Amino acid sequence: MAKMYVNPKVKKGHINPELQGHFSEHLGRCIYEGIYVGENSDIPNVNGMRTDVVEALKEIKVPVLRWPGGCFADEYHWKDGIGSKETRKKMINTHWGGVVEDNSFGTHEFMELCRQLGCKTYINGNVGSGTVQEMSEWVEYMTFEGVSPMADLRKANGHEEPWTVDYFGVGNENWGCGGNMRPQYYGDLYRRYQTYVRNYDSKKPISKIACGANADDYHWTDKVLETAFDHGSGYMNGLSLHYYTVPSGDWNHKGSATDFDEKSWYKTLKITLKMKELIQRHGAIMDQYDPEKKIGMIIDEWGTWYDVEPGTNPGFLYQQNTMRDAMVAGINLNLFNKNCDRVKMANIAQMVNVLQSVLLTEGDKMVKTPTWHAFNLYKHHQDGELVESFVETKDVGLEESCMIPNLTESVSLGTDGRLHVTLTNASLTDSEEIDMVLAETAVKSVKGTILTGDMKAHNTFDAPETVHTEAFSGATASGSSVKFTIPACSVLYLEVEI
Ligand code: AHR
Repeated sequence: MAKMYVNPKVKKGHINPELQGHFSEHLGRCIYEGIYVGENSDIPNVNGMRTDVVEALKEIKVPVLRWPGGCFADEYHWKDGIGSKETRKKMINTHWGGVVEDNSFGTHEFMELCRQLGCKTYINGNVGSGTVQEMSEWVEYMTFEGVSPMADLRKANGHEEPWTVDYFGVGNENWGCGGNMRPQYYGDLYRRYQTYVRNYDSKKPISKIACGANADDYHWTDKVLETAFDHGSGYMNGLSLHYYTVPSGDWNHKGSATDFDEKSWYKTLKITLKMKELIQRHGAIMDQYDPEKKIGMIIDEWGTWYDVEPGTNPGFLYQQNTMRDAMVAGINLNLFNKNCDRVKMANIAQMVNVLQSVLLTEGDKMVKTPTWHAFNLYKHHQDGELVESFVETKDVGLEESCMIPNLTESVSLGTDGRLHVTLTNASLTDSEEIDMVLAETAVKSVKGTILTGDMKAHNTFDAPETVHTEAFSGATASGSSVKFTIPACSVLYLEVEI
């Protein structure tokens, strides 16, 4: 039996809802078809946004949405996406599949989507191929209330009131698709561009996010901070980090989303667990510049990246989603919670039909993926206080070089006064009996929900409910302890009344 210790009296930090954020790019069928079908579509929609998709996203309480990219962001010129749709510029989406981008989804549509979702807005600006003026005017267009050329243009385009831009990314992957820059050069550009991301409304300051590293490029983090971190004036509120879980570890042969064996299961999870080391090591560099943790680590692209589904456009990055993805989601969301003193936002890539999506669509059909179900369990942590917790683990796996701890966990104290506990069991064969002991706290009641199934189980348009959650009645409370058995290959949520 594994012991788990929870001390509800020791608070470790606030769990920003944004840790469960999302990312939507003009890539494949994410925006077009997946989210936006246009007002004249036969698919039920409100102002062009698919009703089924919006409802499913509201259910998991999407807290924030990043847009328009990704690599697309550093090629995006926002003025192409405003005004009458008939006259909007048509262009080739050179990054993603070489398809025609008709710009029918632009700033107004993005803001409308966020309004419908009730989520915060995260706009990613163009540093790679855009000008300072262009970036500055975009911010003016979106957020300035008074009389100005850009505010007047917004009003002429039908939106009288300014919108709220909660987060603004100054470039994306500028070490790669966003301009192939060196960190010192980007750091200098960041200083310059961010100057013109004006706070027109002092009551709603925009959080400015600098482009951070790819995976374990610690040099990038160090040099960008050395160049651009400003002690005092707060011109950097966040520094991003991108890390994808590629199961084979080889970008040329990433592996199938659905056709994999047990060895690949453990390897994928070992690769995803590298996130812990990345947070610690990038965090240690950030601590040197920012010991008070004023700037957030913003993990604004994470998730699994497989070979595309056979027969689909390689530039569309469309992949299925199994219990393996749910496990990846559960492990990462626990890690983000555990590091909530530094990690302030994380955005899974991407929301619909691209990479590790929570939803897949085909025509008028939609399925919720196992990843959606994992997010639905973890939503109870949003806005909670992380409390101290620890669980005893054992190593599991098939090869000595690829062993991983069987369990991960995180526990928060919600605004409802209850403890919210999430656990993952990555073992494919062994369930684990757990005795969870609460320090100096009596348990009144406990209930739970579980997501479990075969490692390759997934939902299809013909069988959309193969993977689903069920009530978990296997936990018993006595005094200050809760005993339960977490099955192999499962993600578990417990709500504990204290
Ligand atoms: O999410 C797909 C792509 O991955 C993004 O456009 C880019 O930022 C990253 O390389």
